[in-house]
Amino acid sequence: MRKIEELGRPAILTLDPYVPGKPIEEVEREFGITGVIKMASNENPLGPSPAVIEALKAAAPRVFNYPDSNCYYLKREMASFYSLSEDHFIFGNGADEIIKMIGEAFLNPGDEVIHAWPTFSEYIFASKLMGAKPCSVPVGENFKHDLKKIAERVGSNTKLIFICNPNNPTGTIISRQEMQEFFEKIPSDIVVVVDEAYYEYVTDPQCSSAVELVDKNRVIVLRTFSKIYGLAGLRIGCGIASPDLISLINRVREPFNVNLMAQEAAVAALKDQAHVSQSKELVIDGKVYLYGEFERLGLGYIPSETNFIFVDIKRDSKEVFTALLKEGVIVRTGDIFDRPNYIRVTVGTPEQNKRFIICLEKVHGRIGDNGVTSERRKTLEVRCALCGKKEIITDVHKDFERLEKNPKTTYFCEMCLSRVQYEAVEYNKPKKPI
Ligand SMILES: Cc1ncc(COP(=O)(O)O)c(C=O)c1O
Repeated sequence: MRKIEELGRPAILTLDPYVPGKPIEEVEREFGITGVIKMASNENPLGPSPAVIEALKAAAPRVFNYPDSNCYYLKREMASFYSLSEDHFIFGNGADEIIKMIGEAFLNPGDEVIHAWPTFSEYIFASKLMGAKPCSVPVGENFKHDLKKIAERVGSNTKLIFICNPNNPTGTIISRQEMQEFFEKIPSDIVVVVDEAYYEYVTDPQCSSAVELVDKNRVIVLRTFSKIYGLAGLRIGCGIASPDLISLINRVREPFNVNLMAQEAAVAALKDQAHVSQSKELVIDGKVYLYGEFERLGLGYIPSETNFIFVDIKRDSKEVFTALLKEGVIVRTGDIFDRPNYIRVTVGTPEQNKRFIICLEKVHGRIGDNGVTSERRKTLEVRCALCGKKEIITDVHKDFERLEKNPKTTYFCEMCLSRVQYEAVEYNKPKKPI
């Protein structure tokens, strides 16, 4: 009898299952804690627009019906939003499903698929699934896509190119000019997929959407409602391309791939652009704060055009990840992107950002700052006058000096999530000299 493994298609044996960001509930269960915050999957911490909640309540009694297979109302809204005809759109159970459908529609075993590295891993998954060969081109200077090398890599077997703009996890962009020059070099029978999952967060005016290219080039643009629109839990994403390309992808689409609630929510979300602007502002302000804190802590980071930041924490990110988990903060480790000393953190609310920094600092002190362990540091035990929470801070903490000079002072309490009266209750000299 053949082994179970031998029953699977050879192509799937090369697949590594996707490792998602840890869910809040799992961390709370594992560590027996509450109030965990997730800054790992680039979701919108403001949640969806209030109009989405209303639309979902109104649609709930209709869930006994199958959804509209054609996503008629959503397609109409998107067509008007992007000033394109309705046959330029296809929807999926998340942009993830569209990536998979693109693989199914275009790839034969042995075809080559070019992508940057590090980037979003689903391009590799969709390629391997079809028996195609993913070919990675390392990011160049400043962690940007090396478009010159990507163009040079194109060969007679190349079928697809995936470009993530802005890129996950680096947050870097490709300018309009760079994109135009790139398309001039790419043979017209290659389909270029430009994944713009984070495009709504871009502030750099040099960056432009590839949606403007869909009628001129063989390009498929990906957008999602999971990020700035705050609908990750409903699973809905979109592909935008010329009607010819869309009708090819439509051949592999399941009839009812986008559920009824997701369609209703997406229509309402698209109409509330004020919520989109508010979400973008929150991220812009959050990045200013986080960059400042990373600089203060002496950590490197890549300036990001998205709602996440790739941070060089100068030590094993798995160690920092686990220590942060115990503090109730979930981030992503960089090892999955072959950058073991980086973490990827999603910009949260001001309170979440502060809590992340406090915990990161605490964890850094504990794990050791440039090899200096907390045993060799001065520490203060402080207690919140409001909730009584005790905490040990080391002399790398930004409030240490102030608390050392004046034991009764205000300090940010991560339980109360505000600045409250703190009291330094115990002072410890370093156990070992530095
Ligand atoms: C670059 C990129 N593309 C696509 C996706 C998938 O989005 P969706 O939730 O719509 O499947 C993600 C999700 O993290 C992403 O980072």
